[in-house]
Amino acid sequence: MDVLEAVRTKHAVRRFRDEPVPDDVMRKILDAGRRSQSSKNTQPWQFVVIRDRERLKALAQTGNFTDHMLLAAFAVVLVGERNTEPINFDLGQAAAYMQLAAWGLGVGSCLFTMHRPDDAKQVLGIPPEQYVYTGLSFGYPVPNLPRNQGGRKKLDEVVRWETW
Ligand SMILES: Cc1cc2nc3c(=O)[nH]c(=O)nc-3n(C[C@H](O)[C@H](O)[C@H](O)COP(=O)(O)O)c2cc1C
Repeated sequence: MDVLEAVRTKHAVRRFRDEPVPDDVMRKILDAGRRSQSSKNTQPWQFVVIRDRERLKALAQTGNFTDHMLLAAFAVVLVGERNTEPINFDLGQAAAYMQLAAWGLGVGSCLFTMHRPDDAKQVLGIPPEQYVYTGLSFGYPVPNLPRNQGGRKKLDEVVRWETW
């Protein structure tokens, strides 16, 4: 898929078919995260992949809007070396790269927030000093679902030229 087409059409997918994502496709998605840019190229991340259904269920309990995780083929928790603004930005970049790569491969995704990050760390055995806040559900989208057309603000509403 052309990059602009992927950016234009990508949307949050919260309903997944009961169908595994092959390992090579999953690896391509993870690799897109690895290739993402980061502040001073520090690559301050680890990506924890979860496929086990019971673990996904336990992880879903650590956020408030995580139902989509229950039927995902797999989830990826984005882990930062610590909680700093650049690292949070970097994790967001890795998420976007993974989501766009997935979309280009026909795989849908949705972010989830772990509102109780300490619980999430416990579920996944992540050391306490590491930073956890968001993750991604991935899977093949259920086709033809009516979807919430959140839409986007118009370009003129969000762009200011030269000065505020
Ligand atoms: C930082 C962040 C956290 C998010 N957390 C959740 C979440 O906990 N649960 C969820 O269902 N969607 C979550 N989302 C997905 C957003 O709701 C979604 O990207 C937004 O509504 C735009 O959707 P659209 O691209 O389909 O229009 C999150 C997105 C971001 C960027």
